[in-house]
Amino acid sequence: AIGPVTDLHIVNTQLAPDGFLRDTVVAEGVFPGPTISGNKGDNFQINVINQLTDTSMLTSTTIHWHGLFQHSTNQMDGVAFVTQCPIPPNDSFLYNFSVPDQAGTFWYHSHLATQYCDGLRGPLVIYDPNDPHKDLYDVDDDSTVITLADWYHIPAPEAGLVPPFNATLINGLGRAGNGSSSPLAAVSVTAGQRYRMRLINIACDPNYIFTIDNHTFTIIEVDGVSVQPYNVDSIQVYASQRYSFILNANQTVGNYCQSPPPPLILVFPDFSKYAGIRAMPNAGVTTFTGGTNMAILRYAGAGSVEPNTVQTPSIASMQETVLRPLVAQPAPGLAHPGGADINIELDINFTGTEFTVNGQPWVSPSVPVLLQILSGAQNASDLLPSGSIYGLDLNKSVEINIPGGVVGGGHPVHLHGHNFAVVRSADSDVLNYENPVWRDTVNIGTTTSDNVTIRFETNNPGPWFMHCHIDWHLQAGFAVVMAEDIGDTAAVNDPTGAWDQLCPAYNNQ
Ligand code: C2O
Repeated sequence: AIGPVTDLHIVNTQLAPDGFLRDTVVAEGVFPGPTISGNKGDNFQINVINQLTDTSMLTSTTIHWHGLFQHSTNQMDGVAFVTQCPIPPNDSFLYNFSVPDQAGTFWYHSHLATQYCDGLRGPLVIYDPNDPHKDLYDVDDDSTVITLADWYHIPAPEAGLVPPFNATLINGLGRAGNGSSSPLAAVSVTAGQRYRMRLINIACDPNYIFTIDNHTFTIIEVDGVSVQPYNVDSIQVYASQRYSFILNANQTVGNYCQSPPPPLILVFPDFSKYAGIRAMPNAGVTTFTGGTNMAILRYAGAGSVEPNTVQTPSIASMQETVLRPLVAQPAPGLAHPGGADINIELDINFTGTEFTVNGQPWVSPSVPVLLQILSGAQNASDLLPSGSIYGLDLNKSVEINIPGGVVGGGHPVHLHGHNFAVVRSADSDVLNYENPVWRDTVNIGTTTSDNVTIRFETNNPGPWFMHCHIDWHLQAGFAVVMAEDIGDTAAVNDPTGAWDQLCPAYNNQ
């Protein structure tokens, strides 16, 4: 891992993570980007150095630190045209922020158009030296981070509206559907040890059903929030969501119940020391045409082979409403529908070419929203793009209701600058104000009878992006900005030299 004070070089490299060589945009020449880690309370100073040259993809960039609140550092949120201008090639930008009150599993990614689909995404872990779950695991380090990604053979700028992905990558390796013999990732464990695995969906599109053959796991963290331990044998994880779970490496030689080997696979070694780590995209219903959605859980002492075991999850798919934060945090506002200070309905539609939110597709303004505010805009109605900016006063409870059933879902809707109480999730009709799960990305559901309701408190002045984390949908308009406490944004977010720093090309401001 690289520490909280570092350079991060953004480069073009040719990579073949699924056996197909292509040009990419990546951090430090690798996919996924190197894990960046620090401790709760650390100050991060990440100097992003743009060395991009390949004009078949975007040569400007920004980096967003997904899930971090950026309290009083809205200008470090890294969203092109919301908090800053894109960083031009041969330039750099110092992301300087602190993480005083958050710990858990996060990630970083380009937040310029669909650039992260070309490779610019990696894990970000904030360790808590006083982690309340410490007693539950023996190992928690770089080796226990598991990323799930989709991978494309066509550069994002040419890929079209919602392109099919060509492979699923687990920890950056996989196989496209043409029988390549590209290597799979291996996660090494020692029998008897308990591991805190950090599962991150860094995809541009699919959700995954994640399983490990012959193993169950215990969820202890959701999107940076510690939760009461909950046992499952599969996790459905949507784009940008994270879970920590305990994996007890409790399988030993001879302990496996194996299914018969599938045909056409040559069987030599002792499979009892291996298990398949599997990530099935979009519950198998997708344009995805094959490939191997697998990595290998390898017990110490085992050689280099692939498992032939297959396990169908036995426990019904987890409902997120069963999860409970370790420390209960009630939803803000009164405990009934519409009982918040500010109540917002977001009606999402797909027109065939774009997504609209309450009738407006997101179209990036030429001057980033933050800089419009720093230039003196006082009201949401003064801000562009008009119709996409929601002004919120400070210290209010906010309820947002989002009907499901929008074409192309379940859509994972993400809010910057906050996490939120999931008062009603897509998989339940029950309203839970007392002890809801808190997270920063929620699936809004696949049917029109789904209705997701979230709440949060406005305590973080600044414009915060809220959007579908299927990156193609964001690009097609599925986004709004929650402009929180516009009047105090300039004072709180220390804009000294903001124009020079955030938009160096705008010399005349
Ligand atoms: Cu992962 Cu707008 O964020």
